[in-house]
Amino acid sequence: MPFYVKHGEIPKQRHTQLYGKDGALRYEELIGREGFSDIYSNVYHIHPPTKVSQVGALTPVTISPGGQDAHRHRHLETFKMKPAGDFLSGRRVLAYNNDVIMSVAVPEHQADFFYRNAHSYELIFVHHGTGILESTFGRLAFGPGDYIVIPGGTLYRFEYDEKSPQPRLLVMEARGEIAPPKRYLNKHGQLLEHAPFCERDIRVPEPMPPMDQSGAFPIKVRVEQGIQEYTLAHHPFDVVGWDGYFYPWIFNIRDFMPITGKVHQPPPVHQTFEGPGFVICSFCPRLFDYHEKAIPAPYAHSNVDSDEVLYYVEGDFMSRKGVSEGSITLHPAGLPHGPQPGKYEGSIGAKETDEYAVMLDTFRPLRLAADAASIDDPHYPYSWME
Ligand SMILES: [Fe+2]
Repeated sequence: MPFYVKHGEIPKQRHTQLYGKDGALRYEELIGREGFSDIYSNVYHIHPPTKVSQVGALTPVTISPGGQDAHRHRHLETFKMKPAGDFLSGRRVLAYNNDVIMSVAVPEHQADFFYRNAHSYELIFVHHGTGILESTFGRLAFGPGDYIVIPGGTLYRFEYDEKSPQPRLLVMEARGEIAPPKRYLNKHGQLLEHAPFCERDIRVPEPMPPMDQSGAFPIKVRVEQGIQEYTLAHHPFDVVGWDGYFYPWIFNIRDFMPITGKVHQPPPVHQTFEGPGFVICSFCPRLFDYHEKAIPAPYAHSNVDSDEVLYYVEGDFMSRKGVSEGSITLHPAGLPHGPQPGKYEGSIGAKETDEYAVMLDTFRPLRLAADAASIDDPHYPYSWME
């Protein structure tokens, strides 16, 4: 899905000489996916990007399973989470499978390191907070409602503004590309006219001056076994220019143009991204169905192949009772779910909804993590009783 972007100084042709004003040769780095067969960018550094001055500790990371007492619907009250750690150490994994890891972070302090997820794409949904994501590719200012898409292998620094409200992040880590659905694209890769957003809505990194600094620059890299620390001998963002299709980018949920219908439209009309083994949908304010006998609230449904997770962002969610901003509901396969008592009937005649929510539907069962058990609402499974 990403499109061609070019910033700063690059040589006229790939893999040829580029010199600075001081006559120093620039160092090319290719960052790409799928064994040189998928998206890539060519980046030009002042220093070779390979100068590791120290290999530090490897800290194992394991996810503790928990909350598997019963197969039932869940309401996870993430609004009860206290600020902890930074944007990385503060991630509390709530649910996971072999395709995707979902966590929520309420960071207490800034991170003082650069970070790269070696294997996984990251999708960071910014519920609250403003700041800057700096990467090899430049600066991306972020704010509430932003989906930040970070290809695995991207080196970045996540910094929230000093005057930012308490940041709150929903994070998905995926074993493969997170991108708009392929069915939204024409054969040239352009978003189609009837897709609910277009390239104009996508923000790409802004150029930033190259950081020509020597010293000791700490980097943490998430690898299979855990987090590996390194020290680089120079600032990693010593980039004079780059071009290509590989870079982090942002789409804001408020720029999603909902598709509505004469009768109730199913979640695929809200789809925003797809990843290996899951989809992400955005529920946004919209007008309801215009059939004279329409029932705007969804019917009860068994989405047989999927576990459905909803993160409630803002507004009054039309089909749910007892959820708040920051709630997560998890409706696993094997058990139908639908509007709570009164919501189905109550939706008749309603003209619009002002809800914002982010949905993760997986194609394979999710496991709950121990941190989910501690914020689990035990009454939720019975909330369909009158
Ligand atoms: Fe559902």
